[in-house]
Amino acid sequence: MPEPTDSTDQPDMPRPRYFTTPIYYVNDRPHIGHCYTTLVADVAARAARLIDGPKADVFFLTGTDEHAEKVVTSAAEHGMPPIEWADLNAQRFKDAFAFMGFSHDDFIRTTEDRHKTRAAALIADLMDKGAIELGDYEGWYDPSQEEYLTETVAKENDFKSPVTGRPLEKRTEQNYFFDLPAHEDWLRAQIESDAIRILPEARKNEVLGRIKQGLNRVPVSRRIKDDDPAPEGWGVTMPGDPEHRVYVWIEALCNYITAIDTPERAHYWPNSSGGDPLQPGGAGQSQVTHFMAKDIIWFHAVIWPAMLHAMGRPAPSTVYAHAYWIAEGQKMSKSLGNFIEIDQLRAYADKFSLDAVRWYLMTQGPLGATDSDFAHSRFVEVYNADLANGIGNSTSRVSNMIDKYFGGRVANFDPSVPVEIETEHAFVEVELTNHPTHFAQWVRESVEGCDNCNLASSLRLGITIVERVDQFISDTRPFSIAKKREGDARIESQLAMILFYSAEMLRIASLFLYPAMPEKMADLWRRWNCDHLNDPADHNSGFKAPLAELAQFGDGGYSLKPGQKITKGDALFMRADPKEDPPSA
Ligand code: MSP
Repeated sequence: MPEPTDSTDQPDMPRPRYFTTPIYYVNDRPHIGHCYTTLVADVAARAARLIDGPKADVFFLTGTDEHAEKVVTSAAEHGMPPIEWADLNAQRFKDAFAFMGFSHDDFIRTTEDRHKTRAAALIADLMDKGAIELGDYEGWYDPSQEEYLTETVAKENDFKSPVTGRPLEKRTEQNYFFDLPAHEDWLRAQIESDAIRILPEARKNEVLGRIKQGLNRVPVSRRIKDDDPAPEGWGVTMPGDPEHRVYVWIEALCNYITAIDTPERAHYWPNSSGGDPLQPGGAGQSQVTHFMAKDIIWFHAVIWPAMLHAMGRPAPSTVYAHAYWIAEGQKMSKSLGNFIEIDQLRAYADKFSLDAVRWYLMTQGPLGATDSDFAHSRFVEVYNADLANGIGNSTSRVSNMIDKYFGGRVANFDPSVPVEIETEHAFVEVELTNHPTHFAQWVRESVEGCDNCNLASSLRLGITIVERVDQFISDTRPFSIAKKREGDARIESQLAMILFYSAEMLRIASLFLYPAMPEKMADLWRRWNCDHLNDPADHNSGFKAPLAELAQFGDGGYSLKPGQKITKGDALFMRADPKEDPPSA
């Protein structure tokens, strides 16, 4: 029997991929943290669409979590009914995500009927399967995070919230409970074997450590009080018991299924049936990746997979929990009032371009296990190094030379004439003969990086190539050769070849950079008449071929071709003055 192949080897049938962000509370407006996780998911989704090409089957979901107690409380503080406050803030999230250029396929709000009815059906299914039962509960409740903590965790944190430091409350309730302990062995096996991959590795160890401390039943409902501050119909009532409302976390997690519970989307959740590759659970089984920060990993890596297991559905493939953006060493919080606001990101985008903001967040952000500080000086440093003096300068330099020496068109060259540069002879030969292997290797690294959510290192490959081009140009010195080319066909061919090689390398670099900087790279492709996109005017129009084909060096397919017009234009990124003040919102 043939070995099953990874779908990345089957460009005809890419596997479906489903990327999600947390659904965010609408008690307030969005800030950098919400934009960051959604950016990470956007870059992952864009990279997947590029890697898989025109047949890519990617679904990217984000949205808002609206039935939380804190939404009701903050609505009251603003003198508004909860739904109006939720409407207003959900719109702010939508506006912020539009500004950030996110390519989500849907934005779900938990107050929508499509969510409420389906979430109720999922809970009913859990009840039918005996996974949810009524019981008494006394526990330490963290009102700032809307969750109960175990006695051990409460004690360890001095009866304060481990996330916000606010005091915990002792609460007793008669609730419905989900029997989490029943799944303990299964969870441990799934996580240890990476059937559910928890990334980064440090987070996996933490989760396993916490499972070892023992699992508690999870409250699934709250009794609706007579003086309940929430209006009637707020939230999802417990199936068969209208006196209880489904606890917000349990309801919220269901969004990952409720949003795709339609015939066209159902295959984004794998199902355990196997068989037909076109059907969920077949050979083309969907890969589900949940992105979030470390604050909510327990819900996604433990409670949610256990709920799915109880329902007889497969668990998500990957749970990726990044660290935090912090401000001057402290977690950003409402009480400290130290959030990096969207208006501040807008001010940076106005000055440096949106793609520069996306680049900075992606490459300098807390993607791994360590928190990151947003620092203006670092922003300018990275902007100048990677963008203005990096891809921006390199593309200008090469376009200008092609314009000056060859009238703005990729020139023909005789490949049998070796490039013989007096000074750096040996390097040039090596560089020219080895490039196809390099590029195949880089494409593999990029695909691997994306599979492991090492998105920053995948993006970095683009800059590595730019650095090679800079080195190549300073070694081969096309500007000096140009002076000697008059009437010498051999030198003329060498010059054409050097510029072809440089431009072609930059074209490939731009593909690696694209997921973080879609607008700027689409702009470059328009200037250079590269036909990567189905519609060159629309950077969201989809790719004409999978990355491995687009990134073929000089093969005549999607590569630059002799005669191709290279339009020079304004620099992609203007240099920034590090002495200037930060842009103010
Ligand atoms: N509503 C729940 C999630 C339900 S998912 C089924 C929730 N909402 S939240 O509005 O508090 O969002 C938390 C998420 O926002 C974090 O997991 C992270 O994705 C993002 N961030 C919030 N602050 C952040 C930072 N300071 N830094 C990075 N990301 C942060 O929890």
